[in-house]
Amino acid sequence: MQKRKLGTNGPEVSAIGYGAMGFHLAYGSADEEAGLATIRRAYDLGVTFFDTAELYGWGENEKFIGRAVKGFRDDVVLATKFGFTPSWEADSRPAHIREVTENSLRYLGVDHIDVLYQHRVDPNVPIEDVAGTVKDLIAEGKVKHFGLSEAGPLTIRKAHAIQEVAMLQTEYSVFERDVEVLFPVLRELGIGFVPYSPLGRGFLTGAVKPAAELEESDMRRGDPRWQPGNFERNVEAVRQLKELATLKGATVSQLALAWLLAQGNDIVPIPGSRKAERVAENVGAADLVLTVEDLAKTKEILPEGGFGERYAKEFAPTWI
Ligand SMILES: NC(=O)c1ccc[n+]([C@@H]2O[C@H](COP(=O)([O-])OP(=O)(O)OC[C@H]3O[C@@H](n4cnc5c(N)ncnc54)[C@H](OP(=O)(O)O)[C@@H]3O)[C@@H](O)[C@H]2O)c1
Repeated sequence: MQKRKLGTNGPEVSAIGYGAMGFHLAYGSADEEAGLATIRRAYDLGVTFFDTAELYGWGENEKFIGRAVKGFRDDVVLATKFGFTPSWEADSRPAHIREVTENSLRYLGVDHIDVLYQHRVDPNVPIEDVAGTVKDLIAEGKVKHFGLSEAGPLTIRKAHAIQEVAMLQTEYSVFERDVEVLFPVLRELGIGFVPYSPLGRGFLTGAVKPAAELEESDMRRGDPRWQPGNFERNVEAVRQLKELATLKGATVSQLALAWLLAQGNDIVPIPGSRKAERVAENVGAADLVLTVEDLAKTKEILPEGGFGERYAKEFAPTWI
């Protein structure tokens, strides 16, 4: 698979990465044993960028990723995140960052973390202190690169002034375009961009189910885009995207990922799937070339993204 560089001095990774969250958070139950084969398939297909976080099962997802990549750890870039308490409050106090990093190293079973992200900006801790702590961890050899997630332009600039930020991770997809306003700042500073939920949490795949048919533990049951009114309009938009994809001999998820890749060489989406065959489908997007007309048609189908907010109010991040 083609490679892309994230950040001026950041890592080179496969153009399509992999997000492991779905095994321990958000989308219902999962089979870890089958999951090991899914990750192996991703690697065999050329994926070299794997994303996890403390929050995804409080260590369970990191342990799972550590087991999954054991045979090829040195060939891949592992990214994890700190910054939450078990009650989902922000906590980026330096001592907490250090504690979480030590846990992550142990759970992943590695001697260094390739990318350490702050998961959410903590309004109670100056970003300079956060960046300074990560700078120290880099100097100690425990971390290679620094990342931010859902941060605003001022935070990005302040953090970057203390410790080079290699990449920003924020939601971005055909359904969710707001983050495009930050691209000029990222490009000015030489920071790469990692779109999360690049398939709109599974909506941009043609396999979407109405909220009532999802498992009780599936967080999408409460997502605005799954609520009556929005849901039907989003289904209709995906139907039109599927028509366009079919004309190109592609699937709608491949179209959605290729659309992201076409927004810049500094962009590496991290779609998540628990199923090996879906990972293979998603990886196929790296070979799908979209024309100017395809991009225009996509914009015509969804001029401003999906219908409904991306998160229910209680989870909506604010860019500080
Ligand atoms: N920084 C943050 O705050 C943040 C927030 C959210 C996510 N993330 C990261 O971003 C990664 C990806 O985001 P995401 O998992 O929220 O959303 P996503 O990648 O947009 O979509 C994942 C969903 O799509 C389904 N899916 C994937 N490929 C498919 C295909 N080809 N056909 C049909 N269904 C398919 C998956 O179901 P199956 O598993 O059943 O295939 C899963 O339910 C996460 O794993 C996590 O690492 C970061």
